[in-house]
Amino acid sequence: MSTPVEIAPAKGKLGVLLVGLGAVSTTTIAGVFAIRKGLAKPIGSLAEMGTIRLGKRTDNRSPLIKDFVPLADLNDIVFGGWDIFEDNCYEAAKHAGVLEEKLLEQVKDELAAIKPMPAVFDRQYVKRLDGPNVKKGKNKKDLANQLIADIRKFKADNGCDRLVLIWAGSTEIFMQEAPCHQSLAAFEKGLEESDPAIASSMIYAYAAISEGIPYGNAAPNLSAEVPALQELAAKTGSPVCGNDMKTGQTLIKTVIAPGLKARMIGVRGWYSTNILGNRDGEVLDDPESFKTKEESKKGALDYIFQPHLYPDLYKDISHVVRINYYPPRGDNKEGWDNIDIFGWLGYPMQLKINFLCRDSILAAPIVLDVALFLDLAKRSGMKGIQEWLSFYFKSPMYAKDLYPEHDLFIQLMKLKNTLRYIMGEELITHLGREYYD
Ligand SMILES: NC(=O)c1ccc[n+]([C@@H]2O[C@H](COP(=O)([O-])OP(=O)(O)OC[C@H]3O[C@@H](n4cnc5c(N)ncnc54)[C@H](O)[C@@H]3O)[C@@H](O)[C@H]2O)c1
Repeated sequence: MSTPVEIAPAKGKLGVLLVGLGAVSTTTIAGVFAIRKGLAKPIGSLAEMGTIRLGKRTDNRSPLIKDFVPLADLNDIVFGGWDIFEDNCYEAAKHAGVLEEKLLEQVKDELAAIKPMPAVFDRQYVKRLDGPNVKKGKNKKDLANQLIADIRKFKADNGCDRLVLIWAGSTEIFMQEAPCHQSLAAFEKGLEESDPAIASSMIYAYAAISEGIPYGNAAPNLSAEVPALQELAAKTGSPVCGNDMKTGQTLIKTVIAPGLKARMIGVRGWYSTNILGNRDGEVLDDPESFKTKEESKKGALDYIFQPHLYPDLYKDISHVVRINYYPPRGDNKEGWDNIDIFGWLGYPMQLKINFLCRDSILAAPIVLDVALFLDLAKRSGMKGIQEWLSFYFKSPMYAKDLYPEHDLFIQLMKLKNTLRYIMGEELITHLGREYYD
């Protein structure tokens, strides 16, 4: 046993502010309301359903994670958020078409009470969308100040003790680090000058982090990982994590790829295609937003296979990712993977995966877990990038000079060991010699 980290208790209400009250957000919110009413179980949530082994295998100590670490109670969560559309969460959930009418009716009043605050939005960054519920300001600094005012008002109006803010808005166009991202001073000057390199999502991130609030990015946009916002997070003590939730095809990729590599099975090509018909699919139909997603989806294999260490097995893999907008499919995405692999003496084989999934059903428990764990991180005094939350992301944020960890099983071990660490429990290495000595 080591010394536990001092963790502030999860007392009072936790406000979860979501940017973008679309399919993912409304499925998360409606789900939490349904769970509170005993209508459903939090399936897919590690924080709510997972257990954690403590001590030796012979100790038989495997509490639920939520009983082991002090997480906010689901009954203490208050939701709010922003959107460019004026629909309340009930209307937005109906529009998203993920959850059945029968379930939505049972949580209608709570959902309808959540009305989006006017958004900070600029079509320059999301070309396929436009909506009426948008703030006006004299520059981006002014818009950031308006968001800060919204955040403070939400906290006061709802009597929240703590807040978490998560970007679940549309995927913005592909952007790279620019000079105004390099330091906090340059970023704040860029806000004053409305520098085009500062996208809407960064204005939300800036507002949250300025207030010392944890910030998570569920989408692939360049957001809080720029040096300026990292500098701000170090100053205000905000924990941050992202990017792009690991839900359908990439989740399966990061399950299969480590398995192939563990057995030194070679890979020549990996062709992934998706059909998707929700609003996210429509936004991703724009080549500039798709590029952001593509970069995020393609990173994982390179890092898992480490072609520089295994050139005979993984050099020059042909990795293709496609997303096709196909409206009849709605939120029920279908993904196909064709994987060309080779074994002993180079003999070729193939693996085909056809995943008929539901995008927002896979995403909602991630939003919940990320909110609960970010709040825990904040109460535990952990600030800046939370690498232990890589488990949830396609493009996990990582410290400079490192490389990201994409292997789902290493990510899970890292997450659980972080929980053991903060609670002063022994870390589990799986060495297990003691059982045989
Ligand atoms: N569902 C998944 O499996 C999954 C996985 C990984 C990432 N994501 C990402 O999560 C995000 C949300 O996905 P979704 O399916 O809910 O999409 P969606 O289109 O249903 O919802 C996004 C919402 O964000 C709003 N929005 C856009 N820009 C905004 C801004 N600047 N301020 C406030 N609101 C804004 C839109 O109006 C829309 O209502 C997308 O970026 C998507 O790529 C989803």
